[in-house]
Amino acid sequence: MPHSPPLPPVPEAIPIVTPLNLILFSLVIYVGYLRFRTPATPIISRPTPIVYRKYTPLTLLPYNGTDKPQVFLAVSCKVYDVTPGKGFYGPGGPYESFAGRDASRGLAKGSFDAEVLSDENGTIDTLEDLNEEEKVSLRGWEEHFGGKYAVVGELVENGEDGDEEEEGVSKA
Ligand SMILES: *[C@@H]1O[C@H](CO)[C@@H](O)[C@H](O)[C@H]1NC(C)=O
Ligand SMILES: *[C@@H]1O[C@H](CO)[C@@H](O)[C@H](O)[C@H]1NC(C)=O
Repeated sequence: MPHSPPLPPVPEAIPIVTPLNLILFSLVIYVGYLRFRTPATPIISRPTPIVYRKYTPLTLLPYNGTDKPQVFLAVSCKVYDVTPGKGFYGPGGPYESFAGRDASRGLAKGSFDAEVLSDENGTIDTLEDLNEEEKVSLRGWEEHFGGKYAVVGELVENGEDGDEEEEGVSKA
């Protein structure tokens, strides 16, 4: 057992706790607090810094709230961070099948069926066969997402996400 180092001598003669000392001590703490407290930041709904990048149907997949905490989905080739709406789009939510996916066709048709989701290995859904009503519906959803969520990137074809390595690097 190592010996503990000798304690420094206690200056018994000097009274440490006096009312004046207490006041000074409080003042020092308070000034220190003022100096080092982080400036008040407004509560923002996007805690992670936004890096605009390219996503492919395959690289978008992990952003479904399970693999990664963020929930992204694509509408008309824009990728939205819908994490603030995790209750809807995250695991267990009514729209969870769209998480990490191109939701365009499903939203346009008002359907959650598996067949409205394009094959993640395939090409991006051109949506050319949508009827007028579905196109109007899709534009409505684009406005909804554009007004409510941040665009974090664009959806490009598999293999075209040349800047994948730049993840986390600000392009400011
Ligand atoms: C999220 O994706 C992973 C695989 O990438 C999968 O295991 C998991 O079930 C998905 N979660 C949901 C809610 O779809
Ligand atoms: C996409 O490709 C992966 C790997 O080749 C495969 O595991 C997966 O089942 C494919 N998905 C579809 C929908 O075909």
